[in-house]
Amino acid sequence: MKLFATLTLAALLPLSATAQAAELELDIGPASRSWQSAELLAHPQARQIEIAEDVSYKRAMHYRAVPLAVLLSGVQPGDHLQAVALDGFAAELPAALLLAQSGAQAWLAIEGPTQPWPALAAGKPSAGPFYLVWQNPEASQVGPEQWPYQVAAIRKLAPVAERFPALLPAADADASTQAGFALYQKHCMACHRLNAAGDSAFGPDLNIPHNPTEYFAEGFLAAYIRDPQSMRRWPQGKMPGFSETVLSEAELQQLLGYLRHMATRKQPDAAL
Ligand code: HEC
Repeated sequence: MKLFATLTLAALLPLSATAQAAELELDIGPASRSWQSAELLAHPQARQIEIAEDVSYKRAMHYRAVPLAVLLSGVQPGDHLQAVALDGFAAELPAALLLAQSGAQAWLAIEGPTQPWPALAAGKPSAGPFYLVWQNPEASQVGPEQWPYQVAAIRKLAPVAERFPALLPAADADASTQAGFALYQKHCMACHRLNAAGDSAFGPDLNIPHNPTEYFAEGFLAAYIRDPQSMRRWPQGKMPGFSETVLSEAELQQLLGYLRHMATRKQPDAAL
């Protein structure tokens, strides 16, 4: 958590009209460094871009942004990256997706001190100081959890399976369960742990003490994932729904298969 310590003060205090200069930590091996927002705004490759359907603002947005790939020198397509937000949300991102020259293009949008972005909701801060946005996201099936906002750091890490063996399906698990594990990493891990494994604890652990496939009646878990508020409704609910455009019906079944499988692989002694 030390990564956020310096940034929290700089970026979280001013909820007023002017956004304050902030710092982005790039922890990516030999080329690690930090960037001030002013440096990024003045980066030779910074441009004005339009994002037609912004996932967080739910409308078209314009940003000053730098292609993320140009900031990731030395990062290889086989590497694994994680974007960590000020609130602890941690998006897992295969580097290949961020470096790709075709398909979806990843941009780091930078909030300028003189042109603050709108609040994400009434009484909330904006998506700044740094926000990972995508052009043409559907070309690479970029999911909504791959648009981290209020980003504090991007770091290179070992792949999820190496960092968190407690998330692994059995070695002889079928292809559908393995596919479900990949979907779990893409869509769920930014907020949840399972077997106490994961970097975020925004939502409850999905295996211990009980796995939702054990206590949700048939059909209700799928309905919950599609639209949590369709099952239980309260204004502070934070889990987003996953529509069919984001998670197809077949993918949802694979994800449920992975969760069911993991109920047989509990690590009840894992410390939460
Ligand atoms: C942006 C964060 C976020 C993401 C992404 C997310 N969840 Fe959640 N989830 C939560 C939070 C927070 C809760 C607690 C209820 C609430 O506030 O909505 C929750 C609750 C749940 C519950 C209910 C548990 C219970 O017993 O009440 C289930 C099941 C669940 N999530 C499964 C999933 C799955 C499966 C995925 C991936 C497809 C996922 N979540 C993605 C944040 C998230």
